[in-house]
Amino acid sequence: MTSRLSYNLAARWLAAFLAMACILLSLGMSHALGADPQAEIETALSGVDERTWEQVATNEGARDTRYDSNYSLINASGETWRQIRNRWVSTFGVIAIVGMALMILGFYLYFGSKKLEAPRTGRRLLRWTVFERTLHWSTATTFILLALTGLNLMYGKFVFKPLFGDGFWAPMIAGTKLLHNYLGPLFGILLIIILAKWLKVNLPRAHDLEWFKKGGGLIGKGHVDAGFANAGEKAWYWLLASAGLLVIISGLVLDFPIFGQTRDGMQWANVIHAVGALGLTAVALGHIYIGTVGTEGSLEAMTTGYVDETWAKEHHNLWYDEVKEHTTLPEHVDKGSFDEAASHRPN
Ligand code: HEM
Repeated sequence: MTSRLSYNLAARWLAAFLAMACILLSLGMSHALGADPQAEIETALSGVDERTWEQVATNEGARDTRYDSNYSLINASGETWRQIRNRWVSTFGVIAIVGMALMILGFYLYFGSKKLEAPRTGRRLLRWTVFERTLHWSTATTFILLALTGLNLMYGKFVFKPLFGDGFWAPMIAGTKLLHNYLGPLFGILLIIILAKWLKVNLPRAHDLEWFKKGGGLIGKGHVDAGFANAGEKAWYWLLASAGLLVIISGLVLDFPIFGQTRDGMQWANVIHAVGALGLTAVALGHIYIGTVGTEGSLEAMTTGYVDETWAKEHHNLWYDEVKEHTTLPEHVDKGSFDEAASHRPN
């Protein structure tokens, strides 16, 4: 009963989230369709006449302070930025993402997925509330859409343009950019809520160092201690709290160029944004692997909210010790006859 109610609630949240994304997208698209290119040229290039073009052609008016080139006719630092983006940033992205995918494949082929050592007891512990799961999946969906559209902005022209031609590519990249621009701030809001909500369980503890030393249990014998979040999860959390926020801030600098940003500032923001986002996408592949095929029983934590007692004992022993009095059987989960608050958070 309770879980059906929870699913209804989650479904409603998800529907509201998708409706919000659709409204934002259609607002953006109607804005794009209603645009008047002639008026835009006049706004952007007011005061530009034949004499100006003569100056450009003869290089007479070219100025480049490099640090504030807003008003230069020819912006030489733009070429430097283009080189950095196309040669270095895009190469870094390919190495990071393809390299990570290959590492995960190698890891899986060598170690296989981590199965539970003891049999399941059937008793369950609440790990993530319906609000937390909705938050996680909304953030994850937004992140994946941003990653796909971002990759298309960086590499799409080498794939889709030659394959399907300009007629396909032009509307595709215009739509991609709109979606990317509108989803960015939404992701920012969701991520900030996640970071605030899960801060307490991700604060570093002495045993985290041991977890890293033992490679999360891969190196040496015996189990490694972990509380509600293990050190690997904490590293993912703090990466999102640092690089994730940097990507959001630099994205906002690019999204809203009306606060006096210089062109050079925007170029820097672009490089920071792309490097951070490509790096995060690579690490997210690792997170997705560990949360799905990599570890038996993890995905059900984020889909049903509950984990088996054996999973809790083997992966988060310190958390288990604190909440083990509050295990519940699946039928009690359905009836809601157990103490929710006590069962999922350590004191
Ligand atoms: C298909 C994609 C994804 C899958 C399958 C997935 C799966 C999971 C699972 C199973 C957990 C719970 C692990 C546990 O109970 O210990 C989890 C936790 C988490 N996920 Fe994801 N996830 C995905 C994408 C993402 C993305 C894109 C983000 C962020 C942008 C994200 C951020 C987090 C965070 C912050 C946690 C909590 C870890 C902590 O306590 O620090 N996830 N995820």
